[in-house]
Amino acid sequence: MLRMSPTAVVPALEVSGASPADVEADLIAVPIFESDDPAEDLRELDGATGNALMRALESREVEGRPYEIFLTPVTNGWRTGRIAFIGAGKRADFTTERLRKLATAAALQARQRRVQRFAWLNRGDIPLPEAVQAAAEGLALAAFSGDRYKSAERAAPALEEILILAGGPEDDRSALEARAERGRILGESCNFARELANEPSNVLTPSIFAERAADICRAAGVTVEVLGEREIAQLGMGLLLGVSRGSAEPPRVIVMRHSPPGAPASPVLGLVGKGVTFDTGGISIKPADGMERMKDDMAGGAAVICAMRAIALLNAPINVIGVVPATENMPGSRALKPGDVLTSASGKTVEVINTDAEGRLILGDGLWYAKHLGATHLVDVATLTGAAVVALGKVTSALFGQPDEWVEIVRRTGQAAGDRCWPMPLYDEYADQLRSEIADLLNTGGRPAGSITAAHFLQHFVNGVAWAHLDIAGTAWGAGKPYTPKGGSGFGVRLFVELARSLSR
Ligand code: BES
Ligand code: MN
Ligand code: ZN
Repeated sequence: MLRMSPTAVVPALEVSGASPADVEADLIAVPIFESDDPAEDLRELDGATGNALMRALESREVEGRPYEIFLTPVTNGWRTGRIAFIGAGKRADFTTERLRKLATAAALQARQRRVQRFAWLNRGDIPLPEAVQAAAEGLALAAFSGDRYKSAERAAPALEEILILAGGPEDDRSALEARAERGRILGESCNFARELANEPSNVLTPSIFAERAADICRAAGVTVEVLGEREIAQLGMGLLLGVSRGSAEPPRVIVMRHSPPGAPASPVLGLVGKGVTFDTGGISIKPADGMERMKDDMAGGAAVICAMRAIALLNAPINVIGVVPATENMPGSRALKPGDVLTSASGKTVEVINTDAEGRLILGDGLWYAKHLGATHLVDVATLTGAAVVALGKVTSALFGQPDEWVEIVRRTGQAAGDRCWPMPLYDEYADQLRSEIADLLNTGGRPAGSITAAHFLQHFVNGVAWAHLDIAGTAWGAGKPYTPKGGSGFGVRLFVELARSLSR
């Protein structure tokens, strides 16, 4: 059976205080800023290239605009073949996020050129530990290729050796190495989530998804339990069972626990991810155009699984529970039909108006279960609504929840981690759209405010507990170039890991 492809795995990154003059590499990547002066700290590098940098800046062939690449040979006998100067924009606008993306873009360029020994030179005003982590993260993300099913012509090969050149005091080396390892684990876990999201649905059925989750998590020391149909029925998860009825593939609930010895009993972070391995829409079937994308309707679940892995590998001192309800949404002869009424594990009844609004159904039972298992702080993540794509495009995830303080923590953490999300309202008035004549709730609220009414639906299953909901319908799938691969983006992994770390403080 196929497991993680080698391009999702990232080899150890080395951090060194050496000067570029002493490095043996095929290529050193160096960020340059707009209005950088080669007469200053770039003098040595410029000299090594026979002043090619200076000439390029003077002729304005190179201006330092973001992601612009200027590749030039080393001519002075250093043991490095070439230098790739990469535009970093204005020095004053340089952020961790920009640095992370530049490192990815540079490493992707290097792979394209079949570089084996790659070095990244740290420049700019970001505090060193943070800069090293961001560079490691970006470089790790660049290891990913989505070509595991190409039998012959494969994409650019992986870099074999990666070195981060970061000067600074000698006694801080081990702290910098730890930050590089943190960045590597974050990037690699994100790659794993991308790979899962990219898997076609004939390969990644709910039960195979659960097996892969168990492999990934157990290797990292996470406890995994996979609930089958009988246990799901015993728990009364009628919403999940309702969605899975139309499919020949049985549903699963993947339950993961990170319980480090000595962690406080509270808080307990509960991560819940939508795991629809393919969404045809069910009887309310989707149009054929673009339906293939619906193989990634488990991207939220993949983010939860791979975040659990990273949280365990990084020994975050906090109890974390992950819950991923997994199913197909198919229009089989036993399928859920519009007008059917389902009873959730929480006891609430739902009139199903549209079988394509399946994500909120399975998450309703998933959220209930995470709370039942003791989560005090919930976050769910789901490719939930096309309306979220209309509202925020592919740049930002829609964020909902309660109380405002918890939502703000999630927003801020996402901003810092490189997984941006933006708050949307949950005013009571929207709840009217979900009123049913015959049950407690409708599963859809019509077209207006589609992502908000979906969030309102979920709110009915978390009553009281701090809860945030991320609608990643727009952000789960990347468009490609210069720093994101086409396909699964891994959105959420880095946010959750940093959330676990900050909640543990
Ligand atoms: N998985 C889809 C949402 C989606 C749409 C994700 C586009 C990624 C890209 C979800 O299950 C769905 O079908 N939502 C419906 C809800 C509607 C029927 C109320 C939608 O958004 O159209
Ligand atoms: Mn759907
Ligand atoms: Zn869906």
